[in-house]
Amino acid sequence: MANRAAAKTLGVSVEDMIGKTMEDFKERTDDESLKAMRDAEEKLFSGQNDSEVYMVWLNDGSGNAFVHSVKKIPIINEDGTIDYLLSVASDVTELQNKNEALKQSLENLKKARGQLLEQEKWAAIGAFVAGIAHDVNSPLGSSITITSHAKRMLETSKVALESGTLKRSQLLEFYDDMEESISMLENHLEHAAGLIQNFKSVSVHQISEVDEEFDLCEYLSRIALGMKYECKLKGVLVTVSCKDVIPFKGAPGFISQIMTNLINNSLIHGYDEGGGVIDIATRELAGGVEIIYQDDGKGMSQEIADKIFTPFFTTKQGEGGSGLGMHIVHTLVTEKFGGTIEVGPNAGKGVRFNIFLPKIKEEDSINA
Ligand SMILES: Nc1ncnc2c1ncn2[C@@H]1O[C@H](COP(=O)(O)OP(=O)(O)OP(=O)(O)O)[C@@H](O)[C@H]1O
Ligand SMILES: [Mg+2]
Repeated sequence: MANRAAAKTLGVSVEDMIGKTMEDFKERTDDESLKAMRDAEEKLFSGQNDSEVYMVWLNDGSGNAFVHSVKKIPIINEDGTIDYLLSVASDVTELQNKNEALKQSLENLKKARGQLLEQEKWAAIGAFVAGIAHDVNSPLGSSITITSHAKRMLETSKVALESGTLKRSQLLEFYDDMEESISMLENHLEHAAGLIQNFKSVSVHQISEVDEEFDLCEYLSRIALGMKYECKLKGVLVTVSCKDVIPFKGAPGFISQIMTNLINNSLIHGYDEGGGVIDIATRELAGGVEIIYQDDGKGMSQEIADKIFTPFFTTKQGEGGSGLGMHIVHTLVTEKFGGTIEVGPNAGKGVRFNIFLPKIKEEDSINA
């Protein structure tokens, strides 16, 4: 074995190589490369294959490392025996380094996407908590006002009773007033309790990545209710139209992330002023359920629709858009549920998404 390039790679002179094989330069390579070479030679000498390709790691003894792709072919005598093996080695060090760097970038990207999914979840919960706090504040504020009023009425009638000036008509009026105040209090407190109940159930579900059985229709209504405050700011009403209960099995937290992203996008990209209506409809299909999400906002061009699921695609570059929202929605639908999402046929105005979520087979359930 000898040529100038090979000698340079091994850090020796051509003369040093004459009459020698790689076995004589073991210190210039590693065990894995030697094994690959020996396996290839064995296959060629035994006639199993008529050419072999393998990778070897080499060094020139001065700290420079190379990766070579080696192709070996047997040179056969007239009598059919193998005379010698011809090796053609190509230096693929740069390619190998680029490959490694690419692999690393892909790993980093996967990690970053996982972190983003997690961050998104908490951001959605934060927004949800703010909305609920705002909503609960209003029935509680009213309850405090009513209580102060009732307290004043109680004191006035007590003073009148003690001073002997309380008239029967006054007492009846007091009773009526108290009855009305208590009934109003009851309504406001029930409303607040309902909101808290909803909050408890959605927030627990929002962080749950475990499959559960739930009514998809009711859950979608709860998500819409949780985003009522943000929607109100834009004058947008969210309606959830379902005919019946839609039993569904899956992780509700992911449904929540998908819907929150879609609603946020409609609010940010679809509506400036004047508001509108977002309709979320569901229907059961063979093998799964379909969610049809439709807003009546500004809509988008075919060009945007074609790129909408591409990571980092945004029309709000420099205005807070990272272009990951719809990529995350797509990832959740396809990877977490094994479903599909398509930009639906544009019913005139706005944007429409058709999401198909297959029913989980018992054996695929992560809880099974
Ligand atoms: N409901 C919608 N109406 C109009 N355009 C939309 C709607 N939803 C998405 N888009 C368009 O699709 C693009 C990509 O959406 P995506 O959610 O991936 O990114 P983003 O909202 O710009 O940024 P991010 O969600 O990462 O903050 C948006 O920039 C917008 O142009
Ligand atoms: Mg978005």
